[in-house]
Amino acid sequence: MTINDSVKKILVSEEEIETIVCSLADKLNFRYKDKEVVLILVLKGSVIFCADLMRKLTFPVILETMKVSSYGSGTVSTGELSIDLDIKTDISGKHVLIIEDIIDSGNTLYKLKKMLGARNPESIAICTFLDKPERREADITADYTGTVIPDEFVVGYGLDYDEKFRELPYVGVLGEWVYEK
Ligand code: PRP
Repeated sequence: MTINDSVKKILVSEEEIETIVCSLADKLNFRYKDKEVVLILVLKGSVIFCADLMRKLTFPVILETMKVSSYGSGTVSTGELSIDLDIKTDISGKHVLIIEDIIDSGNTLYKLKKMLGARNPESIAICTFLDKPERREADITADYTGTVIPDEFVVGYGLDYDEKFRELPYVGVLGEWVYEK
């Protein structure tokens, strides 16, 4: 495996990602057996995770996308949430599963869950690939978590730094030399 020049170490390898995604899919397949679920893919970071996960689901899904943002171009959350793209489906009476790549401060998901919850879904749950609990500011916990990671700046598997590195097939820790210049 080649480590990108900007990545100082691999935190979650491709093999570990496969194991994590299978384990999450097993739990979801048990929970939602025979139910239709609206998957809400939160752009852009969760694109790769969602694509991997949904192919392992055995219950019917409706895929919706939302674009929200709580970050600027740097590494620190501003706590502000703007809805740039909303879903088209009426989720009233439906099972909703929000798919995220990472929960960091939790500000994005706290506000998003509250907003979607006000549309009267039958149920609403969060599935996140990564959780960084040390950074939490908002009172939010995922219902399904792939893996907990330390407070390091991670990229790859959909996660970016300044829109770069999303294509890396693993989750890596970004070298300080990339953002401290
Ligand atoms: C990232 C990530 C989550 C959010 C988590 O999205 O995908 O949505 O930040 O941070 P928080 O828990 O501190 O709110 P980002 O706004 O960077 O957009 P992107 O997915 O398009 O990269």
